[in-house]
Amino acid sequence: MATAVSSAQSLTAEKILQLKRQKNAVILAHNYQLPEVQEIADFVGDSLGLSQEAARTQCERIVFCGVHFMAETASILCPQKKVLLPDLEAGCSLADTVNAEQLRAWKAKNPGAVVVTYVNTTAEVKAESDYCCTSSNAVKVVNAVPADKEILFLPDMYLGAYVQEITGRKLNLWMGECHVHAGIRPNQIADMQRQHPKSELLVHPECGCTTSFLYYHAAGDVPGTMHFCSTEGMVRYAKQSPANEFIVATETGILDRMRKQAPEKKFYPASEDAVCRFMKKITIEKVLHSLEEDVYEIKVSPEIAAKARLAIERMLQLA
Ligand code: 13P
Ligand code: SF4
Repeated sequence: MATAVSSAQSLTAEKILQLKRQKNAVILAHNYQLPEVQEIADFVGDSLGLSQEAARTQCERIVFCGVHFMAETASILCPQKKVLLPDLEAGCSLADTVNAEQLRAWKAKNPGAVVVTYVNTTAEVKAESDYCCTSSNAVKVVNAVPADKEILFLPDMYLGAYVQEITGRKLNLWMGECHVHAGIRPNQIADMQRQHPKSELLVHPECGCTTSFLYYHAAGDVPGTMHFCSTEGMVRYAKQSPANEFIVATETGILDRMRKQAPEKKFYPASEDAVCRFMKKITIEKVLHSLEEDVYEIKVSPEIAAKARLAIERMLQLA
């Protein structure tokens, strides 16, 4: 049975590769995508890497294997290209925690403040922002804002608390969270550390355990070494680290990529339950359908795109 499934999958993969060439398309996939989707992608990476790749591609079509806000960002950066998201239900619970009207009201209460917005937001929210950032450059972006300016940081409170701690700068935080990362709790990590005492700990700054772990770590209460990184930062770090075992606190889709990139090392999920159902909406069958039918095209109105592009480009210049 397993062979039947895998041969069906390889037939689908072959069709995708053929059609991709015919239609001059590039396939971009986030690190949390299913292994077989990552397998057929031209580029796999984190939010920052994917937006940089979208900005530089020469292809006419971009099939975005990720979630809606990522495809929107690609469409903002490449308005002349066709950006396709294979399933419109691939949303993001974090992006849903704030809309443009709420941000306008927050700005009105804090006139003159600089708005730094995590890339996990809608195009309308980005259009109301001064800077965009991702988990790999949030510290750099906040450091680039003049010291006398107040900052509104949204929507992830854990990433915000982490940036606040690292930069030493007081931020006004929006109280949003990602249900997947917020669900990873300090006690789960402490259990894993007891089971794998030689492991290094890699934590995505969106995690619910981030803030408390920063304090435990500063107090010397967390054994071993810990690092906060974006998804791609985790892959890079694990490859070059002399350590052989890692506890990985983020969505479990990243583990497959880490195991491929460093097959001699061991990777343990901080929580087996950290699965993003939105990322898993994309399957290779849907990628094929997307290429065959040119669906589902993600478009952003030119007015919103022009404003949002300023915030995204400011970030890309810093990255
Ligand atoms: P990265 O930018 O680290 O890939 O994170 C994106 C994301 O959606 C985290 O949940
Ligand atoms: Fe959004 Fe969380 Fe899924 Fe990332 S893991 S796409 S932040 S819901």
